[in-house]
Amino acid sequence: MSNNLNLDGCDLVKLALKYGTPLYVFSQGMIERRCREIKEQFLNRHEGSHAYYASKAFLTLAMCQIIEKEGLGLDVVSGGELHLALKASFPAERIVLHGNNKLRQEIEMAVESGVGRIVVDWEGEIDIIDEVSKIKGQKTPILLRVTPEVKAMTHKYIQTGHRGSKFGIPLERIPYVVKKTISLSNVELKGFHFHLGSQIDDYRTYLEAVDVITKLMSDLREGLGYTTEELDIGGGFGIGNGEGSLTKPISYFTDPAMERIKARCLTFGLPLPSVAIEPGRWITGEAGITLYTVGAIKEIPGSCTYVSVDGGMADNIRPALYGARYRAEVANKMGRDKDKIVTVAGRCCESGDILIEDLPVPGDIEPGDILAVFNTGAYSYSMASNYNMLPKPAVVFVDKGEDILVVERETYDNLLVKQRGIRSALRV
Ligand code: LLP
Repeated sequence: MSNNLNLDGCDLVKLALKYGTPLYVFSQGMIERRCREIKEQFLNRHEGSHAYYASKAFLTLAMCQIIEKEGLGLDVVSGGELHLALKASFPAERIVLHGNNKLRQEIEMAVESGVGRIVVDWEGEIDIIDEVSKIKGQKTPILLRVTPEVKAMTHKYIQTGHRGSKFGIPLERIPYVVKKTISLSNVELKGFHFHLGSQIDDYRTYLEAVDVITKLMSDLREGLGYTTEELDIGGGFGIGNGEGSLTKPISYFTDPAMERIKARCLTFGLPLPSVAIEPGRWITGEAGITLYTVGAIKEIPGSCTYVSVDGGMADNIRPALYGARYRAEVANKMGRDKDKIVTVAGRCCESGDILIEDLPVPGDIEPGDILAVFNTGAYSYSMASNYNMLPKPAVVFVDKGEDILVVERETYDNLLVKQRGIRSALRV
């Protein structure tokens, strides 16, 4: 048995050799276990509840097939995500469409394919959905996304439920919007949605929003006689950082939220709505590891030692964008003393392209070593770019000692497929 780092019975150093680096590797088993925990701890315990995987966290055809097989729904936020889901034969009725500025063409696609819910983010969108549905001779079930004015304790860029957020309909507008919506004949208002932000680690944030929304539900019932059937409390359930903090069970978030929804409905004399959640990061974040090959090593006297890898902000923008922190190991030098502190640099032409600061590594780290960065399963591949004309890495799933390529590595020619020269002589 080698000392190499292993994931689900697969030697990661061998995978790096087989597929090249940078490489995204996912544990299929871990994704499935997370889906099953949601089923056992949430769906099976609350009648009428739903869970939609927020596909923006990580979406490929293979990922879609896993979500389909595990019986969850899918949250998509663009025509592109919807197209992929439909290509993967994901059942349209289990899809919810989001977006703060959906294009008419995306709404048409959603209505035509018969998605389960469209979550309306601004008032004008309702007219578009109504009109499109009328043309298609359909009635479209919708939820209104409410801005509950709750500020989640997370990075500013990923807070979404505070007053002033670009997402959702302002709280005070909701009664007018509900009144208007229930008068339309081609949309069916099922209820409300909120999403507070991402990487939230305190369940009390959800309780604050539940208090706001249940009060709103009560006011609407009294004022307009409108009864809310469905309440979607969004995603945002945080994961551990791989250092000190561990990922909490889904019930840490959902149990208190459900209790509070029940208690408040009882207080207000409201029927219990069916409740939905939309976890993204919680399902895939920890299941992903990114492998890199170490290249240039620069020891700068009086400063730091840079260990450069063959990827960086193009395959994981999160450290540069949010100051996100990651843990890593030298996959081919496991179990050795880590007597050197280094800065892991990416290869993009940006001084901000630093993946990890102050990483302890074995003193004999050298070019050719394989660095494995943990917890990169969410918002890495899905936010990857071709900056500096870097081809996007391949994606491999591993399961019980087997590896399967689910996304091929891009080639240099792939990057030029859509380009045309100004003179016809230039062909690529
Ligand atoms: N539902 C809605 C309406 C959302 O906008 C999102 C995420 C989710 C669910 C899923 O959130 P999650 O459970 O994954 O936290 N790029 C950022 C995260 C942006 C999240 C955007 N919306 C990052 O890398 O941290």
